[in-house]
Amino acid sequence: MRLPENFVQEVLDRTDIEELIGRYVTLKRTGSNLVGLCPFHSEKTPSFTVSPSKNMFFCFGCHAGGSAITFVQKAENLEFTDAVAFLADRAGLPMPRETDDAGRTSGVSRKRVLEANLEAAKFFRACLFDPAIGKAGMDYFKGTRGLTEATIKHFGLGFAPNTFGSLTDYMKGKGFTDEELQTAFLCGKSQKTGRSYDYFRNRVMFPIIDTSGNIVAFGGRVLDDSKPKYLNTSDTPAFKKSNHLFALNFARHSCTERMILCEGYMDVIALHAAGFEFAVATLGTAITPNHARIFSKYTKKVIISYDADEAGQNAANKAMRVLGDVGMEVRVLRMSGAKDPDEYIRKFGADRFRRLLDESRTGFEYKLENILGNYDLSVGQEKIRASSEVCEVIAGYPSPVEREVYLREAAKRLELPDEVLKNSVERIRHKQAEAYKAQQTREVRASIKHFGDRINPDSAKDPKAAAAEENVLGLLLLFGEYRKEVVDGRVGLEASDFVTSFHRRVFEAIMRMQASEEGFRFAMLGEDFTPDEMGRIQRMEVARRELTENGPEVFRLAAETLRRIAERNRNRESDLQSRLDYLRKAKLHKGKEQNE
Ligand code: UTP
Ligand code: MN
Repeated sequence: MRLPENFVQEVLDRTDIEELIGRYVTLKRTGSNLVGLCPFHSEKTPSFTVSPSKNMFFCFGCHAGGSAITFVQKAENLEFTDAVAFLADRAGLPMPRETDDAGRTSGVSRKRVLEANLEAAKFFRACLFDPAIGKAGMDYFKGTRGLTEATIKHFGLGFAPNTFGSLTDYMKGKGFTDEELQTAFLCGKSQKTGRSYDYFRNRVMFPIIDTSGNIVAFGGRVLDDSKPKYLNTSDTPAFKKSNHLFALNFARHSCTERMILCEGYMDVIALHAAGFEFAVATLGTAITPNHARIFSKYTKKVIISYDADEAGQNAANKAMRVLGDVGMEVRVLRMSGAKDPDEYIRKFGADRFRRLLDESRTGFEYKLENILGNYDLSVGQEKIRASSEVCEVIAGYPSPVEREVYLREAAKRLELPDEVLKNSVERIRHKQAEAYKAQQTREVRASIKHFGDRINPDSAKDPKAAAAEENVLGLLLLFGEYRKEVVDGRVGLEASDFVTSFHRRVFEAIMRMQASEEGFRFAMLGEDFTPDEMGRIQRMEVARRELTENGPEVFRLAAETLRRIAERNRNRESDLQSRLDYLRKAKLHKGKEQNE
């Protein structure tokens, strides 16, 4: 889908770039700009700059740069359109309806999806509470899972009957169209007839409710061991998995001190029912940085309470990292005797679980136990390996105080003198620092010499031409009057004057936009260029802006230089061509002579 330009502009206008990036990076004001540590490469002195007045960002270290959209693309790993949707959502702007090739709108609004979900939730609940329809579901919740009626009502649980049309018919009676029901993911579309059918069948239903009280999605669980265990709503105009946590609508009222992160819906429900109303779960996905930021909005500390099996523990390791990255205090809960929190509470009760919570380990303790568990410490060789692994972990903590504390703890557990571990940690840190320095030097060298220029590989062949092109493009990016001069033909500059293919593409994109009805918009380049390429384009603009001389004379001269280089190259080529032609002829001639 190609987005209307004025919509993209409106999204950008409504996005406070300082506030947006401030959520990812700690920014400090310097004059009219803000600076911070770049989130896209590792650095110790800030070279990442945000300019609210220009509505752009740029890193002088790694040359990442562009608009708020580029930033979201890089930070959230999204395509251009999805990044726009991400920002539109934050700004409360509905995405424009998608149009098909014939220009017909085929979109359903977020509002309509939410209305459909609410109506469907009512239907599922009514089915659950109607014994003639929902007995199997009710037996499952109350019997198999031990839920009370109060808990069932509190979470708005429901039951989807084992039919292909009952929800569909009900919803159509309420005025919803096939398109709306399919977009909301409540109905599937029959391959043969194209008609709608109920997507969730013979499943107990868990509505997902956002913090504003909207029902944004559903999870549906089978009643037995058949597969797939859960069906979930896919992304819709009203829902994106990574933007939501199950039961956050309740948890947000009692979570300032700590929150519990579980794997499953049923864990959360069991925890809430037992009085732990600060438990949430991701929606059948691994935790993302986006989730981590949601946590950081609501609480200081997250206690990860995943399943006790290996998969759960691996996921816990990952979650620890993701949450740690946004500065959360993270703990991991160790359960034994039960496979998950739900089972644990049913077996041992809420008090025992509360004790587990209070005993939950810090990230380091957890990692330490994990490592030590892998070795037999009574064997010398194994103890050495264990301690070097532990030292690697400790060396990774940037705070000297933390390192000191963990060092002592590890030394005690390994029954080694503090000093031994300390030396080893320092050695590792020294090595890491050296490696870091070497890498930085390599990067700087590469950028100076154009070596390894993946974005514009041609620049190594003709650095002079590349530099002239950057000059011209920088001016064209900055000043509308120059773009106009080129479009109007007052300055003769053509795509064929560009030697390097990346710069030629940039030139063409700028001019295409300039000639279009909507005119040139920097951010729209994001539609044709990757975030890395956007960074390079932004760099040309920044480099040019930093030069004081930018008058029309400068532009004409730059364009002239570029044309001259292009001309020279063409001559060289034709020169070469004629030499080749000459050689070829001469050779042929010789051949003939010999034959005669
Ligand atoms: P679990 O298999 O641990 O399920 O998956 P659970 O919620 O604890 O359910 P019970 O206790 O076995 O009944 C954890 C979460 O992973 C997602 C669901 O969000 C589930 O709550 N999941 C799991 C799916 O999305 N699809 C599946 O097929 C399985
Ligand atoms: Mn489970």
